[in-house]
Amino acid sequence: MDDLEQVSQHADNPKIAGNMSDSFPDSLSKWERFLGFAINDKQIFYIAIEINGQASGGIGLKPCEDVHRYNAEMGYWLSEKYWGKGIMTEVVIEFVQLSFHRFPDIRRIFARPFGTNISSRAVLEKAGFKLEARFEKTIFKNGKLLDEYIYAIRRK
Ligand SMILES: CC(C)(COP(=O)(O)OP(=O)(O)OC[C@H]1O[C@@H](n2cnc3c(N)ncnc32)[C@H](O)[C@@H]1OP(=O)(O)O)[C@@H](O)C(=O)NCCC(=O)NCCS
Repeated sequence: MDDLEQVSQHADNPKIAGNMSDSFPDSLSKWERFLGFAINDKQIFYIAIEINGQASGGIGLKPCEDVHRYNAEMGYWLSEKYWGKGIMTEVVIEFVQLSFHRFPDIRRIFARPFGTNISSRAVLEKAGFKLEARFEKTIFKNGKLLDEYIYAIRRK
């Protein structure tokens, strides 16, 4: 919770929110609620990306349920200040290892970037994820219909 204000300031950027689901927090009070949930809920794994001592982004994993219980979805974002330096690629590689260790049942981690999100797709490819599927115009974001890409990596 000490990171609340920093996180909310770094996240307050339409270029970030425009690539996330509509539930991505867009105010201090929504971040407070989300972090409270992320800290207390043992089912999700959400951590800050700390750069020079500041929480400057986030990455999380949510295990799926029922017949999909061996799968987990990953999501992430980084302050625009630090884009294009290879940081998220490094974070994703490390986070995947941490996640497989923390959730011994999980066999597959997937992410669902929008088709227009070239940098996130590049991150996933560089981190060893394989493109498994492309769904045409399944996303409705900011008034536009977008394709959805599914990338996944499997436990070795
Ligand atoms: C996606 C995001 C996390 C990337 O973080 P980052 O630290 O800048 O990523 P990296 O620097 O590790 O890698 C980005 C790659 O995209 C490439 N890239 C960016 N824009 C590109 C473009 N228009 N065309 C081709 N490649 C592009 C970069 O060149 C880099 O690849 P390289 O290292 O081979 O040159 C960051 O941009 C972000 O937070 N975006 C908003 C939120 C978001 O999209 N979250 C993910 C939702 S699925």
